Amino acid sequence: MAGQVKSKQRVADHGEVFTNPREVNAMLDMVKQETERIDSRFLEPACGNGNFLAEVLRRKLAVVAGMYRTSPYEYMRNAFVATASLYGVDLLPDNVEECRERLYDIVENEAKSAIKKHIEQRFLNAVRFVLEKNILCGDALTLKDANGNPIRFAEWSIVTGDKVKRRDYLLSELLEGSDSQQSLFGDPFSDRNDAVEWEFDEEIQAFVPSAVEEYPLVNYWEVQRHG
Ligand SMILES: C[S@@+](CC[C@H](N)C(=O)[O-])C[C@H]1O[C@@H](n2cnc3c(N)ncnc32)[C@H](O)[C@@H]1O
Repeated sequence: MAGQVKSKQRVADHGEVFTNPREVNAMLDMVKQETERIDSRFLEPACGNGNFLAEVLRRKLAVVAGMYRTSPYEYMRNAFVATASLYGVDLLPDNVEECRERLYDIVENEAKSAIKKHIEQRFLNAVRFVLEKNILCGDALTLKDANGNPIRFAEWSIVTGDKVKRRDYLLSELLEGSDSQQSLFGDPFSDRNDAVEWEFDEEIQAFVPSAVEEYPLVNYWEVQRHG
């Protein structure tokens, strides 16, 4: 999309002014190392058509290509991980659709250029599915999705080989950790009824919210299997 504004009305109604590439790159350079780490997670709230996510994805895929262009299977697995680490929310459905398509096109084009005829349809299908789950239509202020339910994001972790573990979390829990920890001990003034329990993660030495749903292990190209 050319330009930073689609219409004056959208600017007035939704503050929709897209960030230009120079600013996107300057901001991402402040966390350059993370943008080049294949599995580091990024959330762009109010993502629009995904200006930040698109650039992070390009950077990560450049790393994947540098490491794995001669091993198509490794390339596809790592490109999947890179894509699955990106999350976005926007109020406007057309922006959400544009963002998903844009990220999908980046993966497809980069993969075609890196591993050429070795690219597999099942890899592209898994990428499309993950983008549907990770780029959501919702309100980043109320943390509710377009149906009024709490926004729920999937965490995708490669466990062994090609196997992926999916765990779903509420965005409200991920963002408002300290409040939730309090509610574990029963805050009499809290009116929240969607809080989940928190548990201590030995590996990262921190409290993390419990998942609201866990899925069986599947090969990454079969992530669609459990809906
Ligand atoms: C200033 S644009 C930024 C888009 C993109 N992040 C960028 O930097 O190019 C703001 C975006 O926020 C979206 N938006 C406005 N209010 C929102 C809300 N409460 N929750 C989620 N998205 C919102 C608009 O639809 C628009 O796409």
